Amino acid sequence: MAHLWWLLLLVAPAVARDVTDEEYARFPRLYHLDDYSACLSQPDGLYCLGTFHLAPLKQPHPVYDMLKEYSLDRHHFNRTQLHRGYCVSSRCPSLTERNASLRFERCAAQWARRLALRTSLSRLSYCRTHAQEFAQAHSPAPLDLPQKVFLYVVGAIVALNVLGTVYDIATGDHTKKNPLLSAWSVRSNWRRLTASYEDGDPRLAALTPVQGVRVLLMMLIMATHSGCIHDMLYLYNPRWIEQISRHPVLMIFLNGTSVVQIFVLLSNFLLGYNLLLYSKSNIISYRLLPYITLKRIARIFPVYMVVTGYAATWWARSSTGPLWAPAVGAESDVCRRKFWSHMFFVHNLLNPEEICLVQTWFVAVDMQLYVVAALALLALLRRGRGARAALAALALLSCALNGLLAYAFDWKSIMYFAYPSALKTMYSGIPSFSWLYQAPWGSLPACFIGLLLAFLHFDLQEAGVKVSSYKWLRGSYTWALLLIVSWILAGNYVRQWEAPWFTASYVALERPVLSLLAGAILLGMVNGLEGWLKHLMAWRGWHAMGRMSLSVLMLHWILNLSLAASRPQPIATSLLSVVVDWTATSCGSYLLAVPLTLMLEMPPTRLVSSLLHKDTKQA
Ligand SMILES: *[C@@H]1O[C@H](CO)[C@@H](O)[C@H](O)[C@H]1NC(C)=O
Ligand SMILES: *[C@@H]1O[C@H](CO)[C@@H](O)[C@H](O)[C@H]1NC(C)=O
Repeated sequence: MAHLWWLLLLVAPAVARDVTDEEYARFPRLYHLDDYSACLSQPDGLYCLGTFHLAPLKQPHPVYDMLKEYSLDRHHFNRTQLHRGYCVSSRCPSLTERNASLRFERCAAQWARRLALRTSLSRLSYCRTHAQEFAQAHSPAPLDLPQKVFLYVVGAIVALNVLGTVYDIATGDHTKKNPLLSAWSVRSNWRRLTASYEDGDPRLAALTPVQGVRVLLMMLIMATHSGCIHDMLYLYNPRWIEQISRHPVLMIFLNGTSVVQIFVLLSNFLLGYNLLLYSKSNIISYRLLPYITLKRIARIFPVYMVVTGYAATWWARSSTGPLWAPAVGAESDVCRRKFWSHMFFVHNLLNPEEICLVQTWFVAVDMQLYVVAALALLALLRRGRGARAALAALALLSCALNGLLAYAFDWKSIMYFAYPSALKTMYSGIPSFSWLYQAPWGSLPACFIGLLLAFLHFDLQEAGVKVSSYKWLRGSYTWALLLIVSWILAGNYVRQWEAPWFTASYVALERPVLSLLAGAILLGMVNGLEGWLKHLMAWRGWHAMGRMSLSVLMLHWILNLSLAASRPQPIATSLLSVVVDWTATSCGSYLLAVPLTLMLEMPPTRLVSSLLHKDTKQA
């Protein structure tokens, strides 16, 4: 029966139609792009891209009224704003105006007059002439300092890896090696990447399903972003997005962005568990904090900074097209402006409305919470038994804090504003996104729940409890996944309630409930509860892929946006087209992540470990 219901959801037409196809056909196109390269190949070529505000030239104007009414629906794009890329030189050759932006505006006005509409340029992205394009193609701008620095850094990394690999191979397999050099060996890092825990420590071997969960989550994140990127660019058929955005199943992606909380949960669970293992045979003191923080930074920082550095320097130069500058160029500028705040992991707190590589909010939050979690752990581990109660209290407090903040500032969960027109600008200017979704306090409950879970797991192991012998536990484990999906899909009903007390309570509960459910699954998996899910997640193939998660997280946005923004015409979007972009992006990201992980993530991690001689293992 359940299957049937799903099928019905998928097959049923997504909307009660609001305008007929016939009426819709009379709307002016929301997006239009003239041929960019043909235009700029002409000696007098002038290509302009911008957004126009629409108004009627006569009253009454039935089409305009219809546009206006159509735009009132939150699922629809604002149809009184048109997005145009015009080859002004060939479209309106008779205009003699010298000012390019005025010429663009007049040219659009000529077109609109035929529909009895008036256009006014509300935002000019750019005007480009043949001379500019020609100059760029034939004598590229000289490299600026950041671009040169990026090249030097990449050169140095490659050189170190070559040196390390040659050293490793030259010294053979059984000699005692200099750890500073052999850390850079691609060969030995490849062996580490593809090794499994199976023959090692059984406590770590129990964690194998974690890697599968990571890969699955990365796939979901990439799928969501592929859809987002279509929404952000010019579309041939914007109506498809408007219609699909009402589809109940889409709530999985709109409301499901909270699955990122599972990453937060995992990261803190592993931190907590490793420290607990360490505390069995070592004394815990605050002096540990700089060590573990340094190890963390050594693992994250190089990949994170090099990819951000690429985005800030070379990304914008890597292609052209009518949408390249407004999509990639603009983001690259933000990366350059915010490079320093990225470097110190505070870009989600300084100017959070300006977004460079949207997924990096997670890297910042993860680092910020890592310090909080490590401090909390070091304080609590010395307390003994009281730690569990204290963590539970902290988790509850952090939920309450988010609820209160949401109430005070009128912040809401993402699905309350996850409509096509808000997504078009990546939620910029929406405080709930900048100050709740991307902010560290928004993920604080998941952090504490992860730590609590680590204690629970540790206690179960110490006490030798066989979780699999409790029938009710097996049952709830099987149901938890279904509950997660239901919790996310429930957004369809929750969205109808907009009272402030309700939305604030939902903020307090939404992420924590998801984290708790995911935590239940995780705990079941690592404690030997068998089942198809565990078998799937513990598959050996996920292993290396799971370890490349950081590189994939960093790379996929660049690949996906480059792919979509280099198209010369508006995207004809569809389920299939999103899937195609998603497939290309995920294959490309995992492929590129191999060298990035081998050459940039693993060596510094090993280097710092061997320098510090601490064996607080990081999974
Ligand atoms: C659409 O955009 C115009 C500005 O161009 C604005 O005045 C209007 O309120 C917007 N409509 C909706 C429904 O947001
Ligand atoms: C062109 O016209 C616009 C709008 O009137 C004005 O803001 C801009 O400064 C002008 N540009 C030049 C180069 O004169």
